[in-house]
Formats: sequence, C-alpha cells, structure tokens
Amino acid sequence: MRIAILGGTGDIGEGFALNWAERHQICIGSRKSEKAEEASDRYNDTLASQELKGEIRGFDNRTAAEGSDVIILTVPHEHVLEVINTVRPVLDRQIIVSPVVPMSKKEYFEYTPPVQGSAAEEIQEMLPDGMHVVAAYHTIASKRLCSLDPAFRCDVLICGDHRPSKDLVIDLTNEVDCLHPLDAGPLAAARTIESLTPMLLNLAMLNQLKDPSIKIL
Ligand SMILES: NC(=O)c1ccc[n+]([C@@H]2O[C@H](COP(=O)([O-])OP(=O)(O)OC[C@H]3O[C@@H](n4cnc5c(N)ncnc54)[C@H](OP(=O)(O)O)[C@@H]3O)[C@@H](O)[C@H]2O)c1
Repeated sequence: MRIAILGGTGDIGEGFALNWAERHQICIGSRKSEKAEEASDRYNDTLASQELKGEIRGFDNRTAAEGSDVIILTVPHEHVLEVINTVRPVLDRQIIVSPVVPMSKKEYFEYTPPVQGSAAEEIQEMLPDGMHVVAAYHTIASKRLCSLDPAFRCDVLICGDHRPSKDLVIDLTNEVDCLHPLDAGPLAAARTIESLTPMLLNLAMLNQLKDPSIKIL
C-alpha cells in the first residue's frame, strides 16, 4: 500500500514511517517538501543502520496524500483542519487514520474535545461523503514506536464505524512487531480513547514514568 503520513516530520510520524517502510510505500508529508525530504533522508539512514529494507520519500502534504491508500494525520489537533483543507482536492478513497488528541496543559494535561465529541468525529465531519476515519495509536508514546524495540509491546485501541477500513488498520497494526491491535468499537469510542493520552501524560509527570503506553492485561 501507499501510506501518506501528513506532518510525518514530527515525533510520532517517524515511528509509523520506520515501522511500515519494509512492507509499504511510505510518503512523508510536510507543509514544506524540503523539510519532508530531509526527514526522509534521516529515516532512511535509521533503516539502513538497523539493516532494514524500504525507502521512505518526502513530499508536500498534498503530493503525499494524492493517490495514497491510507492517510495518517500526525499533526497537532489545532492544525488538522488546515492540513485537511490543503489535501482536500486530492481526497478520494483514502482511509483516514487519526491518532489526534485534543488537549491543553495548565497545571495538568486536560482533554479538550470539540463539540462533535472527539477529534476523530470532528475529522469525519470535515471529509467528503464516502470517506472513513479510523481512530488509533493515541496511547503509544512516539519514542517507544521509534525505538524499533521488539521487547516493547503494547496494545492499540482502534475504533471506527466502517468495518473494512477498521479491519485494514487492524491488519496494518498487526504488521508491527511491538503493537497488538484491539477492536474498541465504533468511532464514538474515540471520546474515551483520546482522553487516555492526557491521563498517561499526567501519570508520567506525577510518577516519573518514561514514555508510558497502554497494555491491557
Ligand atoms: N508524540 C506522541 O507520542 C503522540 C502519541 C499519540 C498521539 N499523538 C498525536 O499525534 C499527532 C502528532 O503528534 P506529534 O507529537 O508527532 O506532533 P509534532 O511533532 O508536534 O508535530 C507534527 C507535525 O505537525 C506539523 N505542523 C506543526 N504546525 C503545523 C501547522 N501550523 N499547520 C500544519 N502542520 C503543522 C509539523 O510538520 P511540518 O512542519 O513538516 O508541516 C510537525 O512536524 C498529534 O495530534 C498528537 O496528539 C502523538
């Protein structure tokens, strides 16, 4: 598959690129194509140093999204609409994956959902009819995903209303050694799942935990 990682120059985008590059065509998207090209070069160096195959390429967000099968939105919540509007002319049949968590920090991290109930449901409303959002990966710390450490294993809570799209994201997740997918129900479940991220960050802050992620026992 061709997977576009929009905002893939950032923390968690790198983790997805490194983990899927052996099996898929990975296109990093950025507001600036040069920034995506530089990031891709770095990620390809990491792959080579780990003796992993694959070639990651960098583009502007719109070019990355065009003709892709899956789009992962790895941008902060407040910039999602801007990025969707940039790629809107090339939105077609792609499955949209949202790890996006709306949150703020004062003394503690706090979940700040939009009126639709969750970022995932808000993004679904932004899309043309017939396109589907699958929400996943909110509770994985980017450093763990980037580490490519097979010893790290965590569960991924995946929700969505369109069965084939959700199944595809479950399969993609299964391909990553350190991840185990769990079906978490309809897209409305994103309200609960997204709210776990600020909780994890508060746990990290108050208990000196490093890169906390979730595993269901
Ligand atoms: N980091 C984690 O551990 C983690 C875990 C779970 C979920 N998430 C979620 O994943 C998403 C990405 O997180 P992240 O930590 O990877 O974010 P990040 O590193 O802060 O940013 C990701 C990318 O967003 C793009 N961006 C920044 N400002 C923008 C703007 N004004 N307009 C458009 N694009 C902009 C940048 O790409 P360009 O400058 O190249 O355009 C940047 O590299 C967030 O929604 C977050 O809630 C993150």
